[in-house]
Amino acid sequence: MADSILRVLACGSVDDGKSTLIGRLLFECGRIPDDVQVALERDSRRWGTVQGGIDYALLVDGLSAEREQGITIDVAYRYFESGARRFILADTPGHEQYTRNMVTGASTADVAILLVDARKGLLQQTRRHAAIASMLGIRQVLLAVNKMDLVGYDRSVFSAIADAFAAFAVRLGGIAVTAIPVCAVAGDNVIARSPRMAWYRGPSLLAALEEADGRPTAEDAAFRLPVQYVNRTTSDFRGFAGTVASGSVTPGMRVTNVTSRVSTTVARIVTMDGDLSVARPGTPITLVLDEEIDVSRGDILAATPLPATADRVIAEIAWFGETALFRGRSYLLASGPALRVATVSRIQHALDVDTLEDQQSEELKFNEIGTVSLSLSAPLPFVPYREKPALGGFILIDRVSRDTVGAGMIVAGDAASSDLHWHRQDIDKAARAALKGQRPAVLWFTGLSGAGKSTVANLVERRLHALGHHTIILDGDNVRHGLNRDLGFSEADRVENIRRVAEISRLFVEAGLIVLVSFISPYRTERMLARERVTEDEFLEIYVDTPIDECRRRDPKGLYARADAGQIRNFTGIDAPYEPPENPEIHLRTLGTQPEELAEVVVAEIRKRGFIG
Ligand code: ADX
Repeated sequence: MADSILRVLACGSVDDGKSTLIGRLLFECGRIPDDVQVALERDSRRWGTVQGGIDYALLVDGLSAEREQGITIDVAYRYFESGARRFILADTPGHEQYTRNMVTGASTADVAILLVDARKGLLQQTRRHAAIASMLGIRQVLLAVNKMDLVGYDRSVFSAIADAFAAFAVRLGGIAVTAIPVCAVAGDNVIARSPRMAWYRGPSLLAALEEADGRPTAEDAAFRLPVQYVNRTTSDFRGFAGTVASGSVTPGMRVTNVTSRVSTTVARIVTMDGDLSVARPGTPITLVLDEEIDVSRGDILAATPLPATADRVIAEIAWFGETALFRGRSYLLASGPALRVATVSRIQHALDVDTLEDQQSEELKFNEIGTVSLSLSAPLPFVPYREKPALGGFILIDRVSRDTVGAGMIVAGDAASSDLHWHRQDIDKAARAALKGQRPAVLWFTGLSGAGKSTVANLVERRLHALGHHTIILDGDNVRHGLNRDLGFSEADRVENIRRVAEISRLFVEAGLIVLVSFISPYRTERMLARERVTEDEFLEIYVDTPIDECRRRDPKGLYARADAGQIRNFTGIDAPYEPPENPEIHLRTLGTQPEELAEVVVAEIRKRGFIG
């Protein structure tokens, strides 16, 4: 038994009695102030669901109602203690859509309590919670089989659930499981062993928590400090603030910025309570270094052996975005203070949480778990998550909505990353463009099918050609006949369609050309990706804005008629989305204007921006 604080994660599906169980733990462990106790008894008489008794769930749900009115917290942390130990319990909402909150709670927990309703047995959600907990490094699970009163305290019901879960846990790679039959409402086997289930010989829930092991401490490992921010309180003070992730640090120690591999010596360890002579894991500190070396937010200061950095990583991901994760799509990856753009280059497999079998997949849907390869906008220092959760865990953020859509852990750097090198070339983009008397650019036309993208792009190219400029046109219909012949119109395929076109545009820009791209490109995220493939001022987003009714009226290829008749599926604007640009460089409203005039607007704009003379 350890005397350290034990971090506990509580998870369960809706209605299996989690609030009651937690309420009882808090109540019995004497953490309820007297006035709350009085209020609880009063509220139980009024609203309680327990005949003549105290409804402990009101204790927890009352708190969460308060939470909902004010600040939104994903995870509520509750503190309690028994005679033997102190606990921090992370309580996460049980609805399906809240799996992501569970990930937040799981990333620091030592033990997970998984709640199951004895009448329902293991649900898919139970298995998913167990899989995520294991993925995030939790090695001990207390399976609380609740509502035993409703199955007549039947031993065989309990054993069947416990056995099924034990079999499942073996496949999760050896998590230790203690199954406990409980009745949270009456308190059976919660704090003390219940005479009503004399057949059960194991510990009560509280006893099991008291006996659980904490995670191995990160103290013995090498020193790592992810830099949260650079502190410049006065002009002559420069320190690097963050929380020690592992190891310890003392003044005089050599530390290296993992990103740049430049080393120096620690001069001081500054904290709110004065300077320290040593700082250990979990301590927030500001390091002052002997020499001025370049360190910015997101870098890691470390002692040897230094962690690896990679710009391609293999990661396990739990996905909870409403839209699936697709190969080719990019997200923001936040790992501690470090932020990168991460593009999914491969989905190796998706894990079926029912069978734990690997399946090939093109996408990860809501609540699925899978292994993916990510290519990052810049190298990221990391330590595989299983070695050091503080350094290998990350979340993925949708670039448009800013929602957290996934959580994951880095399993390894992708070996290919160090084998691929950029060839330095003597003739560069500027040299190639100079020969052509122009500056390269991407003119990215986006809009609905039939909006007039290709028509205008074609006219612009003719004008540029007549003026002696070097151009290339990439058109959806044409590219889909060759390079992208394998792609259809599902969201995943469109993402890949645009990713490839963005890469080709980049190559043509390298060639010094003015590239005209004419694709529906319905998603903002992919247009953002295309923009980032070239330098800031080289990309012009041109929104060919034609109302859908007008496109339908024109219907140059007869596709709207067929889509309306249900003969074509996933048709943009009908049963597939179009996300209009928010700040296009050029906005062409086509209604009532001739294509020639629109082309003139584009040519004038690229002249104004200095791409052509
Ligand atoms: S994108 O969405 O992936 O950017 P892209 O521009 O390559 O689309 O291709 C669009 C062209 O494919 C349309 O102009 C139309 O001719 C044709 N097409 C065939 N099926 C569809 C569909 N379901 N949705 C949109 N366009 C379609």
